[in-house]
Amino acid sequence: MGRVTRTADLWHHYGRPRHTTDRAVPSGFHWSWGQASGPGAEILGDLTGRCVGDLGAGAARQAAHLAVHHHPARVVAVDASPAQHAMAGDLYGHLTPQLHLALCDVPAHLRASPDTYDVLYSVFGAVDFTEPRELLPAAVRALRPGGRLVFSTLAHHLGGTPADPDVRHTEIGAKTPDGAAAVLRRWVLQEHVWTTLLDEAGFTRITTEVLPGGPGPRVADTLLVRAFRTDDQRAV
Ligand SMILES: C[S@@+](CC[C@H](N)C(=O)[O-])C[C@H]1O[C@@H](n2cnc3c(N)ncnc32)[C@H](O)[C@@H]1O
Repeated sequence: MGRVTRTADLWHHYGRPRHTTDRAVPSGFHWSWGQASGPGAEILGDLTGRCVGDLGAGAARQAAHLAVHHHPARVVAVDASPAQHAMAGDLYGHLTPQLHLALCDVPAHLRASPDTYDVLYSVFGAVDFTEPRELLPAAVRALRPGGRLVFSTLAHHLGGTPADPDVRHTEIGAKTPDGAAAVLRRWVLQEHVWTTLLDEAGFTRITTEVLPGGPGPRVADTLLVRAFRTDDQRAV
């Protein structure tokens, strides 16, 4: 197991009400902020027999869906939050060994897993909340040649402010387990910034797509990003 943060678990409250009321393996997979429309798991490619990693899996709902409905060799749901890891274990621990739950910081897990994954993905997960110049180079090395990374992230800040034109984080409000105010770092970057970061990390065939969030005060557009590790290991 890699290094786990020793600071307060700022994801303690995330998804907790849903945890008690919605315990099923989801029948679908969504990338969009609203989790109700847009493309699904098909953009991960055929997962039959593949090794798949969810980066910042939370309660592992998407990972459980893939493990049950897409016949992978294994889905590893990585999350550094003890609270999220515990929720995932409570909901989907019975899906072992197709689903493996890893309590670990994502860059540490990736660095410890060279040439391991066919597919890595993140749904508003660790890619959003981790220094990308640390995570993305670790991700390309954890992929097998030709493997892919797919992630959904905010296309703009919540509230509508445009995404950042430089690699810089924003501080967003969070709460400690006992309810005290805290802050989390989130990277909300413009498409060309993600593309440059991925290119510098060694990815190729990088594409981006905006999924509109629709009208309403709590909606957001989603940026869906796909990139591949080159087939030629010498070029990475
Ligand atoms: C907004 S939640 C999304 C969870 C899940 N993907 C979903 O769609 O419900 C973000 C998750 O990423 C995890 N996370 C953020 N940075 C991480 C890191 N560096 N390593 C591991 N997990 C991380 C958090 O613990 C949290 O569970």
